Amino acid sequence: MTDITINKVALITGASSGIGRALALAMAEKGFDLMLFGRREDRLTELKSEIKEKFGGQVIPVSCDVRDAAGMKMKIDQAVKQLGRINVIVANAGYTIAGKFENLTTDDYKNIFNTNFIGMLNTLYPALPYLKESKGTVVVVGSILGEFGIMDRSAYVSTKFAMRGFYESVRYELKEMGISFLFTEPGFVSTELRHMDKAGNRIETVTAKDKKATSHGGISATPEKVAGDIIKALPKSGFRKRVITGHGKVFVFLNWLCPNGLASFIYRNRDAIRKKVVK
Ligand SMILES: NC(=O)c1ccc[n+]([C@@H]2O[C@H](COP(=O)([O-])OP(=O)(O)OC[C@H]3O[C@@H](n4cnc5c(N)ncnc54)[C@H](OP(=O)(O)O)[C@@H]3O)[C@@H](O)[C@H]2O)c1
Repeated sequence: MTDITINKVALITGASSGIGRALALAMAEKGFDLMLFGRREDRLTELKSEIKEKFGGQVIPVSCDVRDAAGMKMKIDQAVKQLGRINVIVANAGYTIAGKFENLTTDDYKNIFNTNFIGMLNTLYPALPYLKESKGTVVVVGSILGEFGIMDRSAYVSTKFAMRGFYESVRYELKEMGISFLFTEPGFVSTELRHMDKAGNRIETVTAKDKKATSHGGISATPEKVAGDIIKALPKSGFRKRVITGHGKVFVFLNWLCPNGLASFIYRNRDAIRKKVVK
Protein backbone atom coordinates (compact mmCIF):
# COMPACT_ATOMS: atom_id res chain seq x y z
CA MET A 1 0.00 0.00 0.00
CA THR A 2 1.39 3.45 -0.93
CA ASP A 3 1.97 5.83 1.96
CA ILE A 4 0.16 9.08 1.11
CA THR A 5 2.47 11.07 3.39
CA ILE A 6 5.89 10.29 1.89
CA ASN A 7 7.71 13.28 0.30
CA LYS A 8 4.69 15.46 0.76
CA VAL A 9 4.52 19.16 1.56
CA ALA A 10 1.70 20.55 3.70
CA LEU A 11 0.76 24.19 4.26
CA ILE A 12 -1.14 24.84 7.49
CA THR A 13 -2.70 28.19 8.44
CA GLY A 14 -3.17 28.89 12.14
CA ALA A 15 -0.15 26.73 12.97
CA SER A 16 0.95 28.87 15.92
CA SER A 17 -1.46 27.29 18.42
CA GLY A 18 -4.23 24.79 19.05
CA ILE A 19 -5.35 22.40 16.33
CA GLY A 20 -2.98 23.83 13.69
CA ARG A 21 0.04 23.45 15.93
CA ALA A 22 -0.87 19.88 16.91
CA LEU A 23 -1.49 19.04 13.26
CA ALA A 24 1.92 20.41 12.30
CA LEU A 25 3.61 18.14 14.85
CA ALA A 26 1.55 15.11 13.81
CA MET A 27 2.16 15.70 10.10
CA ALA A 28 5.90 16.20 10.67
CA GLU A 29 5.94 12.87 12.50
CA LYS A 30 4.33 11.30 9.43
CA GLY A 31 7.11 12.71 7.23
CA PHE A 32 5.53 15.84 5.77
CA ASP A 33 7.65 18.93 5.06
CA LEU A 34 5.78 21.95 6.31
CA MET A 35 4.89 25.58 5.57
CA LEU A 36 3.59 26.96 8.84
CA PHE A 37 1.43 30.10 8.55
CA GLY A 38 0.23 32.36 11.38
CA ARG A 39 0.74 35.87 12.77
CA ARG A 40 2.81 35.02 15.88
CA GLU A 41 6.23 34.59 14.35
CA ASP A 42 7.88 33.68 17.66
CA ARG A 43 5.50 30.75 18.13
CA LEU A 44 6.11 29.52 14.58
CA THR A 45 9.87 29.73 14.99
CA GLU A 46 9.69 27.80 18.28
CA LEU A 47 7.51 25.18 16.61
CA LYS A 48 9.98 24.87 13.76
CA SER A 49 12.79 24.17 16.26
CA GLU A 50 10.66 21.59 18.09
CA ILE A 51 9.80 19.81 14.83
CA LYS A 52 13.38 19.85 13.56
CA GLU A 53 14.61 18.43 16.85
CA LYS A 54 11.99 15.68 17.06
CA PHE A 55 11.43 14.69 13.45
CA GLY A 56 13.78 16.56 11.11
CA GLY A 57 12.44 17.45 7.68
CA GLN A 58 12.02 20.89 6.14
CA VAL A 59 9.94 23.53 7.91
CA ILE A 60 9.26 27.11 6.84
CA PRO A 61 7.59 29.44 9.36
CA VAL A 62 5.64 32.16 7.53
CA SER A 63 4.29 35.15 9.38
CA CYS A 64 1.14 36.25 7.55
CA ASP A 65 -2.39 37.44 8.23
CA VAL A 66 -5.01 35.40 6.35
CA ARG A 67 -7.06 38.60 5.90
CA ASP A 68 -4.35 40.00 3.63
CA ALA A 69 -5.09 38.49 0.20
CA ALA A 70 -2.05 39.97 -1.57
CA GLY A 71 0.26 39.02 1.32
CA MET A 72 -1.02 35.44 1.33
CA LYS A 73 -0.47 35.07 -2.42
CA MET A 74 3.04 36.48 -2.23
CA LYS A 75 4.02 34.32 0.76
CA ILE A 76 2.50 31.13 -0.61
CA ASP A 77 4.38 31.65 -3.91
CA GLN A 78 7.61 32.30 -1.98
CA ALA A 79 7.13 29.20 0.18
CA VAL A 80 6.56 27.05 -2.92
CA LYS A 81 9.76 28.43 -4.44
CA GLN A 82 11.54 27.03 -1.37
CA LEU A 83 9.84 23.65 -0.99
CA GLY A 84 8.80 23.07 -4.59
CA ARG A 85 5.14 22.07 -4.21
CA ILE A 86 2.04 21.85 -2.05
CA ASN A 87 0.38 18.48 -1.61
CA VAL A 88 -1.95 19.28 1.29
CA ILE A 89 -3.32 22.65 2.33
CA VAL A 90 -5.07 23.07 5.65
CA ALA A 91 -7.27 26.19 5.99
CA ASN A 92 -7.51 26.21 9.76
CA ALA A 93 -7.00 29.83 10.97
CA GLY A 94 -9.99 31.21 12.79
CA TYR A 95 -11.45 32.73 15.93
CA THR A 96 -14.75 33.00 17.74
CA ILE A 97 -16.92 35.79 19.05
CA ALA A 98 -19.20 35.19 22.03
CA GLY A 99 -22.12 37.49 22.59
CA LYS A 100 -25.77 38.09 22.01
CA PHE A 101 -26.82 39.27 18.54
CA GLU A 102 -28.23 42.43 20.09
CA ASN A 103 -24.83 43.32 21.56
CA LEU A 104 -22.89 42.71 18.34
CA THR A 105 -22.55 45.00 15.33
CA THR A 106 -22.38 44.48 11.59
CA ASP A 107 -18.65 45.16 11.84
CA ASP A 108 -18.25 42.24 14.27
CA TYR A 109 -19.81 39.97 11.63
CA LYS A 110 -17.67 41.49 8.86
CA ASN A 111 -14.52 40.98 10.91
CA ILE A 112 -15.13 37.34 11.76
CA PHE A 113 -16.13 36.52 8.17
CA ASN A 114 -12.99 38.25 7.01
CA THR A 115 -10.81 35.82 9.01
CA ASN A 116 -12.81 32.58 9.07
CA PHE A 117 -14.34 32.60 5.58
CA ILE A 118 -12.45 35.12 3.41
CA GLY A 119 -9.20 34.01 5.10
CA MET A 120 -9.98 30.47 3.90
CA LEU A 121 -10.45 31.77 0.33
CA ASN A 122 -7.25 33.85 0.59
CA THR A 123 -5.50 30.58 1.44
CA LEU A 124 -7.11 28.38 -1.21
CA TYR A 125 -7.02 30.64 -4.29
CA PRO A 126 -3.22 31.16 -4.44
CA ALA A 127 -2.68 27.46 -3.70
CA LEU A 128 -5.03 26.19 -6.39
CA PRO A 129 -2.51 26.04 -9.29
CA TYR A 130 -0.07 24.11 -7.06
CA LEU A 131 -2.79 21.72 -5.89
CA LYS A 132 -3.89 21.08 -9.48
CA GLU A 133 -0.31 20.24 -10.37
CA SER A 134 0.20 17.90 -7.40
CA LYS A 135 -3.37 16.45 -7.49
CA GLY A 136 -3.32 17.46 -3.87
CA THR A 137 -5.74 17.73 -0.98
CA VAL A 138 -7.64 20.62 0.57
CA VAL A 139 -8.49 20.36 4.27
CA VAL A 140 -10.86 22.94 5.75
CA VAL A 141 -11.45 23.12 9.50
CA GLY A 142 -15.13 23.87 10.05
CA SER A 143 -16.99 23.03 13.24
CA ILE A 144 -19.96 21.09 14.53
CA LEU A 145 -21.37 24.61 14.90
CA GLY A 146 -21.66 24.56 11.11
CA GLU A 147 -24.30 21.86 11.58
CA PHE A 148 -26.47 23.49 14.22
CA GLY A 149 -26.69 26.95 15.75
CA ILE A 150 -26.54 27.82 19.41
CA MET A 151 -27.41 31.01 21.22
CA ASP A 152 -24.72 33.60 21.98
CA ARG A 153 -22.54 32.39 19.08
CA SER A 154 -24.39 33.69 16.02
CA ALA A 155 -21.38 35.35 14.34
CA TYR A 156 -19.08 32.32 14.66
CA VAL A 157 -21.84 29.84 13.78
CA SER A 158 -22.69 31.86 10.64
CA THR A 159 -19.08 31.59 9.39
CA LYS A 160 -19.02 27.83 9.97
CA PHE A 161 -22.36 27.31 8.17
CA ALA A 162 -20.91 29.33 5.28
CA MET A 163 -17.83 27.09 5.23
CA ARG A 164 -20.02 23.98 5.07
CA GLY A 165 -21.97 25.53 2.19
CA PHE A 166 -18.67 26.22 0.46
CA TYR A 167 -17.57 22.59 0.92
CA GLU A 168 -20.86 21.18 -0.35
CA SER A 169 -20.73 23.40 -3.46
CA VAL A 170 -17.06 23.19 -4.35
CA ARG A 171 -16.26 19.53 -3.64
CA TYR A 172 -17.36 18.37 -7.11
CA GLU A 173 -15.48 21.20 -8.81
CA LEU A 174 -12.28 20.22 -7.01
CA LYS A 175 -12.90 16.56 -7.83
CA GLU A 176 -13.00 17.51 -11.53
CA MET A 177 -9.54 19.06 -11.07
CA GLY A 178 -8.24 15.91 -9.37
CA ILE A 179 -8.04 17.69 -6.00
CA SER A 180 -9.34 15.86 -2.89
CA PHE A 181 -11.32 17.72 -0.23
CA LEU A 182 -11.62 16.89 3.47
CA PHE A 183 -14.07 19.07 5.38
CA THR A 184 -13.64 18.55 9.11
CA GLU A 185 -16.10 19.51 11.82
CA PRO A 186 -14.46 19.24 15.25
CA GLY A 187 -16.51 19.40 18.44
CA PHE A 188 -15.19 21.41 21.36
CA VAL A 189 -11.40 21.49 21.75
CA SER A 190 -9.14 23.00 24.43
CA THR A 191 -7.25 25.71 22.56
CA GLU A 192 -6.70 29.47 22.50
CA LEU A 193 -9.77 30.03 20.30
CA ARG A 194 -11.41 32.39 22.79
CA HIS A 195 -8.26 34.37 23.45
CA MET A 196 -9.13 36.97 20.80
CA ASP A 197 -11.08 40.20 20.81
CA LYS A 198 -14.10 40.78 18.59
CA ALA A 199 -11.92 42.25 15.83
CA GLY A 200 -9.85 39.05 15.65
CA ASN A 201 -6.75 40.33 17.45
CA ARG A 202 -4.99 38.35 20.18
CA ILE A 203 -5.81 39.28 23.77
CA GLU A 204 -2.66 39.41 25.89
CA THR A 205 -4.38 38.94 29.25
CA VAL A 206 -6.62 35.92 29.30
CA THR A 207 -9.13 35.75 32.14
CA ALA A 208 -9.82 32.68 34.27
CA LYS A 209 -13.35 32.79 32.85
CA ASP A 210 -12.03 32.47 29.29
CA LYS A 211 -9.75 29.62 30.33
CA LYS A 212 -12.66 27.80 31.96
CA ALA A 213 -14.85 28.35 28.89
CA THR A 214 -12.18 26.68 26.75
CA SER A 215 -12.76 23.36 28.52
CA HIS A 216 -16.53 23.52 27.79
CA GLY A 217 -17.45 22.01 31.13
CA GLY A 218 -14.78 19.31 30.81
CA ILE A 219 -15.95 17.78 27.52
CA SER A 220 -13.34 19.42 25.29
CA ALA A 221 -10.96 17.18 23.37
CA THR A 222 -7.24 17.84 23.12
CA PRO A 223 -5.85 19.38 19.91
CA GLU A 224 -3.55 16.34 19.60
CA LYS A 225 -6.53 13.97 19.45
CA VAL A 226 -8.20 16.16 16.82
CA ALA A 227 -4.99 16.37 14.77
CA GLY A 228 -4.64 12.57 14.79
CA ASP A 229 -8.25 12.16 13.63
CA ILE A 230 -7.76 14.70 10.82
CA ILE A 231 -4.74 12.79 9.51
CA LYS A 232 -6.63 9.49 9.67
CA ALA A 233 -9.47 11.05 7.67
CA LEU A 234 -7.27 12.38 4.82
CA PRO A 235 -8.83 11.00 1.64
CA LYS A 236 -6.70 9.39 -1.06
CA SER A 237 -9.13 10.76 -3.63
CA GLY A 238 -12.53 12.44 -3.83
CA PHE A 239 -14.09 14.25 -0.92
CA ARG A 240 -15.43 13.57 2.53
CA LYS A 241 -16.83 15.38 5.53
CA ARG A 242 -15.83 14.19 8.99
CA VAL A 243 -17.26 15.15 12.35
CA ILE A 244 -14.38 14.89 14.81
CA THR A 245 -14.59 14.09 18.56
CA GLY A 246 -17.00 11.67 20.24
CA HIS A 247 -19.20 14.37 21.77
CA GLY A 248 -19.30 16.16 18.41
CA LYS A 249 -20.62 13.01 16.71
CA VAL A 250 -23.29 12.65 19.41
CA PHE A 251 -24.42 16.29 19.06
CA VAL A 252 -24.57 16.14 15.25
CA PHE A 253 -26.47 12.83 15.40
CA LEU A 254 -28.98 14.24 17.93
CA ASN A 255 -29.46 17.30 15.74
CA TRP A 256 -30.08 15.06 12.72
CA LEU A 257 -32.51 12.90 14.73
CA CYS A 258 -34.38 15.82 16.17
CA PRO A 259 -33.74 19.11 14.36
CA ASN A 260 -34.13 22.05 16.76
CA GLY A 261 -34.13 19.68 19.76
CA LEU A 262 -30.52 20.35 20.66
CA ALA A 263 -30.71 24.15 20.28
CA SER A 264 -33.95 24.15 22.25
CA PHE A 265 -32.39 21.98 25.00
CA ILE A 266 -29.44 24.37 25.23
CA TYR A 267 -31.83 27.34 25.37
CA ARG A 268 -33.99 25.80 28.11
CA ASN A 269 -30.93 24.91 30.16
CA ARG A 270 -28.96 28.05 29.36
CA ASP A 271 -28.45 29.20 32.94
CA ALA A 272 -27.11 25.83 34.12
CA ILE A 273 -24.91 25.51 31.03
CA ARG A 274 -23.51 29.04 31.40
CA LYS A 275 -22.75 28.32 35.06
CA LYS A 276 -20.97 25.05 34.24
CA VAL A 277 -19.11 26.41 31.23
CA VAL A 278 -18.21 30.01 31.90
CA LYS A 279 -18.97 31.23 35.40
N1 LIG B 1 -11.40 25.09 19.80
C1 LIG B 1 -12.56 24.59 19.44
O1 LIG B 1 -13.42 24.24 20.29
C2 LIG B 1 -12.89 24.42 17.96
C3 LIG B 1 -13.96 23.60 17.60
C4 LIG B 1 -14.27 23.45 16.26
C5 LIG B 1 -13.52 24.08 15.30
N2 LIG B 1 -12.49 24.88 15.67
C6 LIG B 1 -11.75 25.57 14.62
O2 LIG B 1 -10.40 25.20 14.66
C7 LIG B 1 -9.62 26.21 14.04
C8 LIG B 1 -8.37 26.46 14.88
O3 LIG B 1 -8.75 27.02 16.11
P1 LIG B 1 -8.17 26.54 17.51
O4 LIG B 1 -9.32 26.04 18.28
O5 LIG B 1 -7.00 25.69 17.34
O6 LIG B 1 -7.80 27.96 18.18
P2 LIG B 1 -6.41 28.71 18.39
O7 LIG B 1 -5.53 27.96 19.31
O8 LIG B 1 -6.78 30.10 18.76
O9 LIG B 1 -5.79 28.69 16.94
C9 LIG B 1 -6.23 29.57 15.94
C10 LIG B 1 -5.11 29.77 14.95
O10 LIG B 1 -5.57 30.65 13.92
C11 LIG B 1 -4.60 31.65 13.71
N3 LIG B 1 -5.22 32.88 13.26
C12 LIG B 1 -6.29 33.52 13.78
N4 LIG B 1 -6.53 34.65 13.10
C13 LIG B 1 -5.58 34.71 12.13
C14 LIG B 1 -5.29 35.64 11.11
N5 LIG B 1 -6.02 36.75 10.94
N6 LIG B 1 -4.25 35.41 10.30
C15 LIG B 1 -3.50 34.30 10.45
N7 LIG B 1 -3.72 33.37 11.39
C16 LIG B 1 -4.74 33.59 12.23
C17 LIG B 1 -3.94 31.84 15.06
O11 LIG B 1 -2.61 32.32 14.91
P3 LIG B 1 -2.11 33.79 15.23
O12 LIG B 1 -2.99 34.37 16.30
O13 LIG B 1 -0.70 33.58 15.63
O14 LIG B 1 -2.26 34.48 13.93
C18 LIG B 1 -3.90 30.42 15.59
O15 LIG B 1 -2.74 29.76 15.15
C19 LIG B 1 -10.53 27.43 13.89
O16 LIG B 1 -10.96 27.52 12.54
C20 LIG B 1 -11.71 27.08 14.77
O17 LIG B 1 -12.91 27.68 14.33
C21 LIG B 1 -12.12 25.05 16.98
